[in-house]
Amino acid sequence: MSDIHNKIVIITGASSGIGKALAEAALAAGAKVAVCARNLQKLQSVFPDNERLLCVQADVSVEADCVKLVETVAAMWGGVDILINNAGISMRALFEDTNTAVIKELMDINFWGTVYCTRAAISHIIKAKGVVLGVSSIAGYRGLPGRTGYSASKFAMQGFLEALRTELLHTGVHVMWVSPGFTASNIRNVARTADGSAQAETPLDEKKLMSAEECASVILRGIEKRKRTVVMTSQGKLTVWLNKLFPALTDSLVYKHFLNEPESPLRKYDKK
Ligand SMILES: NC(=O)c1ccc[n+]([C@@H]2O[C@H](COP(=O)([O-])OP(=O)(O)OC[C@H]3O[C@@H](n4cnc5c(N)ncnc54)[C@H](OP(=O)(O)O)[C@@H]3O)[C@@H](O)[C@H]2O)c1
Repeated sequence: MSDIHNKIVIITGASSGIGKALAEAALAAGAKVAVCARNLQKLQSVFPDNERLLCVQADVSVEADCVKLVETVAAMWGGVDILINNAGISMRALFEDTNTAVIKELMDINFWGTVYCTRAAISHIIKAKGVVLGVSSIAGYRGLPGRTGYSASKFAMQGFLEALRTELLHTGVHVMWVSPGFTASNIRNVARTADGSAQAETPLDEKKLMSAEECASVILRGIEKRKRTVVMTSQGKLTVWLNKLFPALTDSLVYKHFLNEPESPLRKYDKK
């Protein structure tokens, strides 16, 4: 029987992509699953009826919504065992061109959303000796050009979780983060451009990327094995390793990689 059978799991941002796949996998493993997103209708429409599923409208960048989410779950099921901070958005624009409100929005959702939900749930999780998880990114280890706000939000998330892990070292709570590589989802369609509008078109061939389902199953295995961190793809592992040993070389490799993306914003600076 799976480790999360009968556990009470909250997954933020579950109406598409990795969060949706995580919710489906957790339900299949026998967990009670509470999911949230800003668009409740869309959230409800992606899951068939299930008595172990609770859909809550919540914007994680609003602290009161995060408190309401946790209180609703605790009132219904009596506590929280596992919190998966998954809700997130991305961006693609040069810092020089980007409205700072875009960077603030990324921090509000990706970082503050994690802080608000974790703060609301932490007493329940300490009581349950449960798990706090952040869905981070390779951008949480290595800043990526055209993604200054995204990288900052994931570095902040990882710093927050590392400090929290150490603080809770003797409580029985497990704190971890996972760093998917490029995974097929809606994230690049809704990624913010310089003025905050969605870029609409993904620059990648989503069919060639890891599926959200595979990503979700790696995450759930990571929870079962109480991994501290999970860096998912070989490209991601290589990037993290290279960046530790050869940071200047990694600057140019990462630059070249993102310069070669279709319609890369970096072309503005490329002299060749
Ligand atoms: N896909 C990748 O290549 C990749 C790689 C590394 C890391 N990640 C991380 O994986 C996580 C999930 O991304 P994804 O790729 O699955 O993206 P996605 O398909 O765009 O899904 C994002 C989900 O988050 C919800 N959401 C967005 N803003 C929210 C808010 N303020 N409050 C509550 N829910 C919110 C969205 O629903 P609503 O818009 O209705 O709220 C949606 O359900 C993110 O943290 C992302 O940074 C993704």
